[in-house]
Amino acid sequence: MKKELMKVSLILATVALTVASCGNCDQKYKKSGFPELDEWAERVVQIKREVMGYPTNMNIELEGFYRWYQANELEKVMLNNVGDPFSTGDGFCTNACKFEREVIEWFAPMYGWSKENVWGFVTNSGTDGNAHGMYFGYNYLKNTTGKTPVFYVSDEAHYSNARLADVQHLEMRMIKSDKMGRMIPEELEKNLDLTRPALIVYAFGSTFRGAIDDMDALNEVLARHPEVPVFRHVDGALFGGYLPFTQFREMLDHNKHKYESIAISGHKFFGMDEPAGLYITSKDVYANQSQYNIAYLNENMKMISCSRSATDALKFWWLMKHVGEERWTKDATGMLENTQYMKAKMDEIGWPNWANEYSNTIFFRRPNDETVKRYSLACSYDEQFGGDLSHVVIMQHCDKALIDQIVAELKEQL
Ligand SMILES: Cc1ncc(COP(=O)(O)O)c(C=O)c1O
Repeated sequence: MKKELMKVSLILATVALTVASCGNCDQKYKKSGFPELDEWAERVVQIKREVMGYPTNMNIELEGFYRWYQANELEKVMLNNVGDPFSTGDGFCTNACKFEREVIEWFAPMYGWSKENVWGFVTNSGTDGNAHGMYFGYNYLKNTTGKTPVFYVSDEAHYSNARLADVQHLEMRMIKSDKMGRMIPEELEKNLDLTRPALIVYAFGSTFRGAIDDMDALNEVLARHPEVPVFRHVDGALFGGYLPFTQFREMLDHNKHKYESIAISGHKFFGMDEPAGLYITSKDVYANQSQYNIAYLNENMKMISCSRSATDALKFWWLMKHVGEERWTKDATGMLENTQYMKAKMDEIGWPNWANEYSNTIFFRRPNDETVKRYSLACSYDEQFGGDLSHVVIMQHCDKALIDQIVAELKEQL
């Protein structure tokens, strides 16, 4: 009898805890009537905390946004930031371009642009930002020099850059990177076509090794050839998000380390809950794009996409107001500290591992499949580091407890 009583109170306590932890979320909508959908939802919420191999911040703070959105019945409105947020955006009545402009203007100074001289927009993703960097760079060089550029990128940069060169029919020269993944300046010089402009993507945090191309050394190579006009786009998908909130913030000031445009992902560091990003450049670059006079967009359309998400812009704005600089600074510092913590723990047990400077990415000898699967580790292969490799990207949700947990698993595999 006593045992039964204990069991009942345990069940009641569990139910109370579940309700409390769900806050005032509406239980009645939890079941969709499609068990497969509900099971999927339950599973993704459960596994998100252990995702370590992909650079996503799982400490998402958009609950208030969704409540506000629904309370205002915005789910019944087709929102669309169609066209250019800075000059045509107010053409379509249910847009949120004002908030998109404010997002760009808030972030611009972190990369060295003044509010007066910046142009940009909230992208669909990091790839979309890179697509615009390359497309804008190509047009800028063609329109200002009358010649088409050659495209340069390192063999360690994200594959989207090579793919986009393919899509945009650019003549690409893939430049060798060093062992840690940085473009080799001497290789760039060797491959530089002195008769044509140069369109270059600098990797600012490569995907697998977290390598940062040495922009100063590469710019020095370019400066030795003043006859080559250049456009430098920075792929700052992950590092371009967190480094401006650290003591290393000046690394991305385009006035100090010259470049012309940058793409940053929104769903990596900033805690967007779906793919999105930022593309930021100057008004001069914008002014030298090919002109498309689209009557219904106020005669002015420079971007690739016509319709664009207004909700992404609103979410970004919401995060900027509710999370903001102070918290992002704390997050960025914490991530780098935890990266050092994990590295030290791996060193302690003797598990071979490597990381670049300023990086929250550690690559290491690949563990067994079970560990790879459990922590969604991204994997690669490189003989220079002994063959099979995996990596973790230490984001906001990767705390010391999670690090201790994975390191304990590695220890058992020694
Ligand atoms: C360095 C880098 N650039 C670009 C991308 C592509 O970004 P997205 O997945 O947002 O299109 C990634 C994705 O991980 C990346 O790591």
